[in-house]
Amino acid sequence: MAIIFNENDKTFTINTKSTTYQMKIDSYDVLSHTYYGKRVGYSDMSFSTPEYGAAFSPNVADHKDGAYYSHTHNFPEISAFGLGDFRINALTVKHADGSVALNPKYVSHKIEKGKYKLKGLPSFYGDDAESLIVTLKDDTYDIYLHLYYGVFEEYDLITRALEIENKSNAPIKLEKALSMSLDLPWGSYELISFRGRHTLERCFERTKIGHSILSISSMRGASSHMQNPFVMVAEEGATEDYGSVFGVSLVYSGNFIISTEKDPFERTRIVAGINPDCFSYEVLPNDSFVTPEVALVYSSDGFSKMTNCYHKAIRNNLCRGKYQFAKRPVLINSWEAAYFDFNADKLVGIASEAAKLGVDLFVMDDGWFGKRDDDHTSLGDWFTNEEKLQGPLSDLVNRINALGMQFGIWFEPECISEKSELYRAHPDYAFKIPNRVPQLSRQQYILDFSRKEIRDNIYSQLAKILNSANIAYVKWDFNRHISDIYSIDLPPERQGEVYHRYILGLYELLERITNDFPNVLFESCSGGGGRFDCGMLHYMPQVWTSDNTDALDRLKIQYGTSFCYPIRTMGAHVSVCPNHGTAGITPLSTRGNVAYFGTYGLELDVTKMTAEEKEEIKRQIKEFKELYDLIQFGDYYRLVSPYNRGKSLYSVWETVKEDGSEALVCAVRYENECAEVPEFVKVKGLIADKWYVVNGDKKYLGDALMNIGIKLDYQYYSFPSKLYHITLA
Ligand code: DGJ
Repeated sequence: MAIIFNENDKTFTINTKSTTYQMKIDSYDVLSHTYYGKRVGYSDMSFSTPEYGAAFSPNVADHKDGAYYSHTHNFPEISAFGLGDFRINALTVKHADGSVALNPKYVSHKIEKGKYKLKGLPSFYGDDAESLIVTLKDDTYDIYLHLYYGVFEEYDLITRALEIENKSNAPIKLEKALSMSLDLPWGSYELISFRGRHTLERCFERTKIGHSILSISSMRGASSHMQNPFVMVAEEGATEDYGSVFGVSLVYSGNFIISTEKDPFERTRIVAGINPDCFSYEVLPNDSFVTPEVALVYSSDGFSKMTNCYHKAIRNNLCRGKYQFAKRPVLINSWEAAYFDFNADKLVGIASEAAKLGVDLFVMDDGWFGKRDDDHTSLGDWFTNEEKLQGPLSDLVNRINALGMQFGIWFEPECISEKSELYRAHPDYAFKIPNRVPQLSRQQYILDFSRKEIRDNIYSQLAKILNSANIAYVKWDFNRHISDIYSIDLPPERQGEVYHRYILGLYELLERITNDFPNVLFESCSGGGGRFDCGMLHYMPQVWTSDNTDALDRLKIQYGTSFCYPIRTMGAHVSVCPNHGTAGITPLSTRGNVAYFGTYGLELDVTKMTAEEKEEIKRQIKEFKELYDLIQFGDYYRLVSPYNRGKSLYSVWETVKEDGSEALVCAVRYENECAEVPEFVKVKGLIADKWYVVNGDKKYLGDALMNIGIKLDYQYYSFPSKLYHITLA
């Protein structure tokens, strides 16, 4: 049993393979957090939350015998605003009388086999998991909180979510409803977050947590390129192999916030959930509101251990569908090959050349529908431009299939162009504030997906296309952020619900379409990696990582992405040189090696390649397919960070089979130096007393490879890279 309730101490102890999480119903019936960290033997750890008698700390109304007990100092499992908890908190509930306060007390709990489900929201799943649901009730009003905990012992993963139920006879207003608050053990911590921008997503950034509130957030209506809804709160100085690390990953794709604060008594708190800015939600009597899930992983031994827990849990218990474990096709995408400038013959020309190289699937990107020849028109008109495609879609698909290739297609279902039949017929479908001129971005508006009628319209159009031809893959794009938020379906006082209802609508549509087309591989995209989050991964098992396809920039982008998200989820393609975005020039072998540690595909016009380049691509596809399982399902280690440029000549990473029998190390070199100092990189995850060969050559003891390392080879050209395939001798 991973979850144990001790009747005598009134403690709930959750044990995973290497971690322990504990809470206690204290003498005031408050569910108090006592510990989260390395796995420890059982004891009541409430001594870690001593009672304080400090000035300016309101005592709880029912405190006994002059003893100090204040919400200013306790560690509630869920912190609420209003009764003296002045730290960052998770809940602001406004009652019908206008008062804003909550004093949740323990009522009951359930421990269940299997993972709880959240209606309408993506979440981790698993029959082998266990769930704990603790119910609390406000001491004054009939407002109940159900605290959900899902426990995946093997991956040290604990999920949390919160349901706020209104059993009173008047509506309540949630002004803030985060998924969790968590008080950490005493210590000095850093917030490691993944900031970025379009074409440079998920850059690693570490900031010391001081006494000011530190927040990363999005108000863009999407998780966004700017901040990712995943952070690590790590012991100061933590590294890949050392130190306490708390991973916090929101299973949500909309506006979010993750904040940390060190209080005046040196205790650090994390809160995470839906961004409370421009949020409010009315909960009617006998109704409830469910927050998105947050997935926590604790590692006492640095980042790598946490990473591999997330990777396994996301692969096995978050992603779904036919392609969750199946080999995915190597695809070629038309975007950087042709942009909007194509017809069927041109696409078939590219596809037939690609088929000869071993590519499995051809994707027709943007530009095939309505009257779309540039980004000014036709979003919303999901019918084939038969003039451009020289006939019906099915003819083109048949021609591609005849080459022995599968066919894939691009949609941007959430957006609408002003110049479109859909907009002319339904101008009210786009988000617009009454009496204000709506703002365009990339010449497009956003459809109000909080409205079922609009989702149904888009579903029917998409389904018609998917049923009209043999389509094996869909790229689901989203190329602007939400402004002008306003839904004509809701009264003025409930407009604070629209951002969240939009995401709920999106999830509903994704659930419907992925269920109805179970054989289609869906790839999520938002101008590259603008919505790379655990929410989208529940519906689509891979995400186009970035519109930046320059292999050198990808080193940082894929490095940052890898902290939480598995290699298998990262869309990565070989593109042309000079790179269209950066003008960067890198060898084709390096572009291939970098794309291997993702989904590996092509994003260029293969008809323009030299015979030698085509041979290289053919070789890469063959090699990638041979190494597929090792790369896609191995444990992942970042060995030399791309942020070490200047200190090391290389960026290096590794994937290794869980049993240590085989590993693949990739090193990309930035600079060449005269009379250089040799660099060795220590390999991880091998078996100490087994003998290995590296690239079929020479025997090395596992222990030696892990403690001395492999010597990285010097090669005399710009930005070379090398794979080191390590197998048992
Ligand atoms: C943004 C995507 O990230 C690109 O790959 C491409 O699909 C364009 N949109 C098409 O408009």
